[in-house]
Amino acid sequence: MDYGLKNRMSRMIRPSTGRSVMLACDHGYFMGPTRKLENPRKTIEPLVPYADVVSVTRGVLRSSVDPEWDIPILLRVSGGTSILQEDLSNEGLTTSMKEAVRLNASAVSISIFVGAPNEKQTLLNLGKLVDEGEEYGMPVMAITAVGKELEKRDDRYLSLACRIAAEIGAHMVKTYYCEGFSRVVDGCPVPLVVAGGPKLNTEADVFQLVFKALQEGAVGVDMGRNIWQNDNPVAMIKAVSAIVHEGATQKEALDLFNETKGKIEALTSARPRRTAQRPR
Ligand code: R5P
Repeated sequence: MDYGLKNRMSRMIRPSTGRSVMLACDHGYFMGPTRKLENPRKTIEPLVPYADVVSVTRGVLRSSVDPEWDIPILLRVSGGTSILQEDLSNEGLTTSMKEAVRLNASAVSISIFVGAPNEKQTLLNLGKLVDEGEEYGMPVMAITAVGKELEKRDDRYLSLACRIAAEIGAHMVKTYYCEGFSRVVDGCPVPLVVAGGPKLNTEADVFQLVFKALQEGAVGVDMGRNIWQNDNPVAMIKAVSAIVHEGATQKEALDLFNETKGKIEALTSARPRRTAQRPR
């Protein structure tokens, strides 16, 4: 791996812990103004100080992420289908590698739809993006998307999809947690992060998902709705970060969440806009 790729990877996965809390805010690219992400800046700004990476499209980056914020960007570059379609797999590349470099992205992300009608097209898109990523020193994250078929998320399917992503050359893979997740990790020779999926019933469910994913070999999360659709999103991301970077248990994370909710949201809303610095 050349210097540029290595350097960018070190912005994606924190070298001191080997782990990462990525904040996923790219849902609008096919879901439109998702609940609690209607105004992206309002959602993203209070969470930036506690995230290692923010995941967005170029439109949200330009409009809603201050260039002076100290936060690496995972740029979503695939799309082309909306939630109105039954089959979401008909994706192409929406943003060029040159644009990703111009926007100073630290990595780019693309969905692949293994087993879906447009499987081949999305896998070839990944291959092309990896070729360009190698040329420009830009890491590529493959996302094992399942479209509307959430029931696909089992270890057999996810092992297949993650391994195919790695074989085509993805530098990182985002997938889902599932029963038997360690088998997914074992079959995937590049770092894996997990998405949260639709909002779970309780905070304890979220912390359990994150804890188990980390225990079984994920290097972190790229999580959205279970953080920013919560009524206390800052307390949520702090608790998730405690599991990811400090080895907190799910119970410790829940205690931290309960201690800090309310208080921390009030403090954060008082934070001046341009001081969205990440605490270390
Ligand atoms: C889909 O829109 C994206 O890949 C999301 O970044 C991914 O699903 C993670 O977000 P969430 O935790 O809300 O599932």
